[in-house]
Amino acid sequence: MRIASAIAGAALALVLASASATATATATAPAPARGAEVAAGDDRSLGLPSLQAPPPALAALGRQLFFDRRLSVNGTLSCAMCHLPEQGFTSNETRTPVGMEGATLRRNAPTLLNVALVRALFHDGRAASLEAQALQPLLHPQEMANPSLAALTKRIDAMPEYRPAFRAAFGDRHASPARVASALAAYERTLIAAGSPFDRWFYGGDAGAVDESVRRGFELFRKLGCDGCHLVGPHSATFSDDQFHDTGVQARSEAARAHGARVQLAPGLATQVSVETLRSIGQGDEPDLGRFEVTRQPQDLRAYRTPTLRNVALTAPYMHDGSFASLESVIDYYAAGSHPADPGQDPRLRGFTLADGDRSALIAFLRSLTSPTLPNDRHRH
Ligand code: HEC
Ligand code: HEC
Repeated sequence: MRIASAIAGAALALVLASASATATATATAPAPARGAEVAAGDDRSLGLPSLQAPPPALAALGRQLFFDRRLSVNGTLSCAMCHLPEQGFTSNETRTPVGMEGATLRRNAPTLLNVALVRALFHDGRAASLEAQALQPLLHPQEMANPSLAALTKRIDAMPEYRPAFRAAFGDRHASPARVASALAAYERTLIAAGSPFDRWFYGGDAGAVDESVRRGFELFRKLGCDGCHLVGPHSATFSDDQFHDTGVQARSEAARAHGARVQLAPGLATQVSVETLRSIGQGDEPDLGRFEVTRQPQDLRAYRTPTLRNVALTAPYMHDGSFASLESVIDYYAAGSHPADPGQDPRLRGFTLADGDRSALIAFLRSLTSPTLPNDRHRH
């Protein structure tokens, strides 16, 4: 009941948000023939590699679909209910989001901010494009649970309010799986958020954009080798190498679960239960093999994609299973050598000693990666 009413509350908030929010600047700009280049030095993209902006009419249709709960089989879940715009396009209140009929998903919802730059999607990289990715939650039985894409597009075809948007994007009013995927992907490509204080300092040459502790934190970030995986280039940074690594997180969570686990009943409500109870409710036996599930290569066991660190202060909880609540706990984990009991752990994660003020400097640096304006932030429209 609690879960259901939380979902209903969130849904109402989102319906209001999407009704009152205007489309992003990119989505309302006049349509250029083949999509416009996001201008270098544009505040919102400063620090990112240059990107093609998607056709505005297509992105506007995608936005309408993204916020629409009627895309799920029983009208309860939209994309935006797990990727909440006001929570950094992720879910801050649960380690892993609650899906169809109260089912707890296996993994944390990644942020969709700057997802246009991600090469292999999902924590295990199993989708090669945003278009391919978009169809998966629509069909996943614990997410939007549509019995088939044909059933979904038939429902959309019967909704008169979609007709003008399909016409504007494609020339006629008909929905198809490829059109739905392409529109959702186009909307997601507008979710650009860089131009952070770090970007204004490091890429924009504005010495006053950050303070001494951010500069010191960035120096440490490089000295400790964080940038070996969370890449920072000379002209732009995604803070990811687009590779998969075993950082010990999954092994740590499995070890913790062997002693029973804290189970989240609803946002803010958790309880400690035994392994036996977990099994009896069908949890705790759900293996997560990481990238191995895709490649079947032994070296990919428990490996997950390096996430971006842009806007990371907004996207708690952290890691593929949401097992870290704060940036402080992530830093302490790396400092302790991650999870040394994990034989497959990346050998670079050997731990380090933090001198006075080092931890807060690293955190100050991570916080300096937050963009001043976010797409679809309902407080700004
Ligand atoms: C019930 C919650 C839920 C819903 C609804 C949902 N997602 Fe997700 N989304 C997730 C989770 C959890 C993952 C990570 C799954 C994994 O890695 O195996 C994810 C992953 C993604 C990714 C990959 C991001 C990355 O960095 O790899 C994209 C893109 C995405 N979702 C878009 C969408 C779209 C578009 C919709 C609506 C059609 C949608 N999601 C609906 C929970 C949800
Ligand atoms: C060997 C590659 C590697 C190195 C080195 C590394 N990371 Fe990571 N980092 C990852 C991977 C992979 C994940 C995701 C793990 C998961 O999802 O289970 C991650 C996750 C994170 C997260 C959580 C982000 C999120 O959205 O969940 C933060 C914060 C972070 N790293 C900061 C750092 C810092 C600070 C350092 C240096 C002390 C560092 N990383 C060093 C690969 C690395």
